[in-house]
Amino acid sequence: MNSKIKEKIKTLVKLINKWNKEYFDNESPSVSDRVYDSHLKELTELEKQYPQFILKNSPTQKIGASLKSKFKKVIHSKLMLSLNKAYDFNDLKKFFNDVYQVNLDKNIRFLVQPKIDGLSISLKYENGILIQAVTRGDGQIGEDVTSNIKNVIEDIPTNIEYKNPLEVRGEIYISKTNFNKIVKEENANYANARNLASGTLRQLDSNIVKKRNLSSFIYEIVDCEKHKIYTQEELINFLKKYNFSFLSDYLIEKLENQNKIFDFILDFEKNKRDHLEYDIDGIVIKLNEMKYYEDIGYTSKFPKYAIAYKFDEELVQTILEDIFITIGRTGIVTYNAKLTPILLKGTIVSAATLHNYNYVEELGININDEVTIKKAGEIIPKVVSLSKKKSEGVFNKILTCPHCNSPLIDTKTLNNQMCINNNCPEINIKKIIHFTSKGAMNIEGLGEGIVRKFYEFGFLKKIEDIYKLEKYKKDIISKKGFGEKFWKNLIDGINSSYKVKLSNLIFALGIPQLGSKNAKMIANKIKKFDQIFNLTNESLLSIKDIGEITIDEFNEYIKKEENINLINYLISININPEVKTDSTNKIPFFEGKTFVISGTFNISRNELTNIIEINGGNVSSNISKKTDALLLGDNGGSKKEKAEKFNVKIVTKKEVETILKISL
Ligand code: IVH
Repeated sequence: MNSKIKEKIKTLVKLINKWNKEYFDNESPSVSDRVYDSHLKELTELEKQYPQFILKNSPTQKIGASLKSKFKKVIHSKLMLSLNKAYDFNDLKKFFNDVYQVNLDKNIRFLVQPKIDGLSISLKYENGILIQAVTRGDGQIGEDVTSNIKNVIEDIPTNIEYKNPLEVRGEIYISKTNFNKIVKEENANYANARNLASGTLRQLDSNIVKKRNLSSFIYEIVDCEKHKIYTQEELINFLKKYNFSFLSDYLIEKLENQNKIFDFILDFEKNKRDHLEYDIDGIVIKLNEMKYYEDIGYTSKFPKYAIAYKFDEELVQTILEDIFITIGRTGIVTYNAKLTPILLKGTIVSAATLHNYNYVEELGININDEVTIKKAGEIIPKVVSLSKKKSEGVFNKILTCPHCNSPLIDTKTLNNQMCINNNCPEINIKKIIHFTSKGAMNIEGLGEGIVRKFYEFGFLKKIEDIYKLEKYKKDIISKKGFGEKFWKNLIDGINSSYKVKLSNLIFALGIPQLGSKNAKMIANKIKKFDQIFNLTNESLLSIKDIGEITIDEFNEYIKKEENINLINYLISININPEVKTDSTNKIPFFEGKTFVISGTFNISRNELTNIIEINGGNVSSNISKKTDALLLGDNGGSKKEKAEKFNVKIVTKKEVETILKISL
């Protein structure tokens, strides 16, 4: 018994120390706060009962402030409460009934809006200037993350026209597109957007935060009556007026029309949820009229005038048959689960992602265990928990690359392992697959299966070999399953890749961190492929979204001999595309200029930014001497003054729309 407890304490100390280290050094902690806290609590309790087993290196033995604190602690002016939860419509009916019992007014109305799966934040403004941003923490005390919010999260205004002291609250999140982009660019396996947003917000380096492109939704104002706001509807209008990002999808409905509220929820879950740009995990229902709030009251954890209806995730149990790893083109390791096939949301699932070893450890799983899997908003199913322990212990960390047997290295910045063998066949294959893929060189006839076969036969060892396949023509045609027709199709595909767009070619090189959007921006900068060697750090830095990490990766790539050889080889065989400067489809107005966008237009901010960037312009968040023009939409007053001060040209909403109309 005692040896088991000793062992347990040892494991907990090891885990928590590792998490503490990650928290301080890394970009994304591998576990949620909830998991961290529960493990720490378990350790503290065991140590209390068995003080003879307290280890010297136990995280509880460190003197000083709280274990995880690198930001200043701030006491919230008002508690940041949570919401009570409803799991079905009966729970909701009970909620409506309780609210009604307090005031017996049939005309009361409810605001219904999505529940964002992000991290809550509280923002303080004085004289119209954002002065402090604090995380929720335990609801009473949070962390001051102003440096990671102010002028970093673009949709949080730093200057507003409302000058009274103001405190607003909302949620920080990473959009689905951005999350996928980050995973792709960093070639990492982050568990989900929420975890990544949470890790990102606690970064010490605000450049990393900026690069990750976080977003916000504001949905609460502290002490509404001070601002003459008496209903949730007015609250939304206030947020809109002062340029906050607000939830525009909502319903306001009378108590007696409860069915409309239920319909809204059903419709949202079934038809809207998957198409939103952000993850939601339910629907929030709040009494619209605030004058009743005090009467209805609060528990110690949540107000009774609001409730969160949680969507039910489809969860199923199955057996974990095996755990295996795959290696990406940059060498990053991903852990995967092989499952006993099971039906989930209409498809048969036999594999699921386990991200990285930390995740396996956190779940405490091993082969033969019964696990719970889910497929929610995500396309790839994931293992969410251990449901029945049927094995001993936790699956052992895989220490060598299954393809080349070289030892895997723990990376410093991510929760990942890597294969760093330059000659690893799997990495070489993945590089070729990336090169030929859609969005890159788009060589039809050279998909993953064929690349693997050609590698095995020795026809392809590296990217250059794609253009030297002619010498294997006979062998290829004579191979079973290939033949003349296959060969013709393959050669057509390879030939058409000579006409590839410059941005596709840059992307095809597979430079770590460099996604297709950055590739487009670089293409617009260098104009011709052979100019890639002349790209300076300054000119890279002037591109929005490209930060120091990407620049380091770029420099690392461009100085390696094998990469220099590849680029020179491509140029020598005339794969040297140019950005066409004939601007039949271009909007010349945007080309080469830097813009700041403020206020709202008929198209979304993202769309407008995209149009500008596609047309060779840049968008930046702040007005400076470098800004060529301010695009001023509705309610975008805050930046106007600064533009005037810096003598920056102001283009009105109408003018922007005319430019877009005549050019599209
Ligand atoms: S209203 C008293 N509205 O969910 C708190 N909260 O589980 C009133 N959340 O702490 C919050 N979307 O962080 C509200 N549309 C929304 C929300 C929302 C997400 C978060 C918020 C809250 C948590 C409760």
